[in-house]
Amino acid sequence: MQIIRSVGELADYVAMQRRHHHAIGFVPTMGALHAGHISLVERAVRDNEVTIVSVFVNPTQFNNPSDLATYPRKEEEDFRMLAGAGVSAVFAPAVEEMYPSGTSRDHEYKLGSAAEVMEGKYRPGHFQGVAQVVHRLFDLVRPDRAYFGEKDFQQIAVIRNMVESEHVDVEIIACPIRRAADGLALSSRNALLSEEQRRRAPGIYAALCESVDYSQSHTVQETHDMVVERINNIPEMRVEYYEIVDGRTLMPISEWGESDFAVGCITVYNGDVRLIDNIRYK
Ligand code: PAF
Repeated sequence: MQIIRSVGELADYVAMQRRHHHAIGFVPTMGALHAGHISLVERAVRDNEVTIVSVFVNPTQFNNPSDLATYPRKEEEDFRMLAGAGVSAVFAPAVEEMYPSGTSRDHEYKLGSAAEVMEGKYRPGHFQGVAQVVHRLFDLVRPDRAYFGEKDFQQIAVIRNMVESEHVDVEIIACPIRRAADGLALSSRNALLSEEQRRRAPGIYAALCESVDYSQSHTVQETHDMVVERINNIPEMRVEYYEIVDGRTLMPISEWGESDFAVGCITVYNGDVRLIDNIRYK
């Protein structure tokens, strides 16, 4: 596996793959890799001749400086996992390499109303930062296919909108959430949980699963309230938002009949650690 630090080296590597007509699969990550990331990588390795993974903690998508400062980093272990999964090259640039003229944003991406709700509302600027870095990475890697995990359900919709509005020629592939045996959605942030918080964390997915049965005989509002109450009753947990939305538009629904693809998207503070998850109702 080749480790690439500079944009110039990456351009050379990509040009060589293009000359050989190799299909390029791309998995953008912020490192601190877990089995969820590796499942994206394995899919990319299956689908393409060449798989490139980026490991870059993108400062422009963090609206909270302490969140950026505490974001877990473990580059050597990440590289070992990627090499073991059959990755062709990893691109792990410094911030100055990615943003040579600084991290301020001079372009407003058209991300549609999907970027205004939920994460967009609670983390102002977050999706502009995600769009900025993913667009720049797509420009450099020029992938045929790019792979994203459905834990960040809203992020996938927003990236699809960015790809459309910026006319990027790439296929976006959404891959299912990977969970620990106790149901907790795998996330780099899980590493920040104390033992006690980790023990309680599966309560989020348990409440979501329970709500799927509950929704058969209850309204959208009642189902929403049940989930929020269940989780808020767990010590140290506080639901930031729970929204039941149409999975295509991400607009909230108020009756089950309004959508044939209803998804519940949740963000929970477990102590200071912000966790997200989602569940499909239909
Ligand atoms: O999902 C993530 O890890 C990040 O938002 C991404 C897509 C790598 C952009 O920094």
